Amino acid sequence: MNAPVFVDLAPATASFEAEVLAGLTARPRALSPKWFYDALGSKLFEAITLLPEYYPTRTELALFDAHADAIGAAAGRGRVLLELGSGAGEKVRRLLPALAPSAYIAVDVSRDALQAATAGLSAERPDLPVYALCQDFAAGLSLPPQMPTGARLVFYPGSSIGNFAPDDAVRLLAPLARSGDALLIGVDLVKAPATLVAAYDDPTGVTAAFDLNLLARINRELHADFDLRRWRHVAVWNDAARRIEMHLEAQATQTVTVAGHVFAFEAGERIHTESSYKYDPAGFVALAARAGWRHRGTWTDVDSAFAELLFVA
Ligand code: SAH
Ligand code: AVI
Repeated sequence: MNAPVFVDLAPATASFEAEVLAGLTARPRALSPKWFYDALGSKLFEAITLLPEYYPTRTELALFDAHADAIGAAAGRGRVLLELGSGAGEKVRRLLPALAPSAYIAVDVSRDALQAATAGLSAERPDLPVYALCQDFAAGLSLPPQMPTGARLVFYPGSSIGNFAPDDAVRLLAPLARSGDALLIGVDLVKAPATLVAAYDDPTGVTAAFDLNLLARINRELHADFDLRRWRHVAVWNDAARRIEMHLEAQATQTVTVAGHVFAFEAGERIHTESSYKYDPAGFVALAARAGWRHRGTWTDVDSAFAELLFVA
């Protein structure tokens, strides 16, 4: 059987600990959203994608179903397909027939999700060379020598680029712009704040569980004692920054010990856990241009909720 080549460069617990201690010490307190994705966090994200309020996933999937052939023709067939933040690997399946890649490289920091997704894909497509790289690419992607070379299509769906502040997004995308390569990227668009807040604070409480799982993960992995019942999930639209912010808010004055360090929280104090920047297509084209990418195409839905953009380096 054709098993994926798996390269495990997942961050060590020591770097999780160092970032959490620094983030809880900083003012305002903040943790990176990349730490949401342990095995449970990845499953909770999959549950989010099924929520009626969370429109990005179904909107992007519908764009692929409607425009896969046009995207494949514009992007060029037979490239090495390099997917960032591949998650459950659902989206790439919709594009494979149109893109006909020579090889597929999935990169994700969530080891269990990455292993399951790439093993499933290999079993379905024994003809396709599949590579799985478990790595945190927030400070830059670094492909090990085992990975196939050749003209690439970088695929970054889900508007995951929106989880980076614009300058950090440019820093991430710029080194990927090798001459002749292409970039297919999903971008969530600015819309009514009520729609955005509902997507990030659903009445079922799935997004709240996704957010709170970060504290549960810190408890599990860093010998901490967050009492999850004394925290609540908050989602707010920041109009000036054009981003949805997720925070965890202390419901009572309390102290918490993390890896031997004691942190005091006032009632109402918040930890900023995620920003999800929203764009208009022209604004994102300008951002990509700063990173060395030239615009080649845009596909969007009738409501202009979400856009898929193609660039060449
Ligand atoms: N692409 C999928 C999943 C999006 S969820 C979709 O569109 O539905 C975001 C994914 O990116 C998760 O699987 C998460 O583990 C991964 N991820 C987030 N930050 C990352 C980082 N810094 N490095 C590597 N993977 C990251
Ligand atoms: C992965 N990322 C693009 C999601 C988003 O919409 O920002 C993560 C998420 N956070 C809450 N719901 C979904």
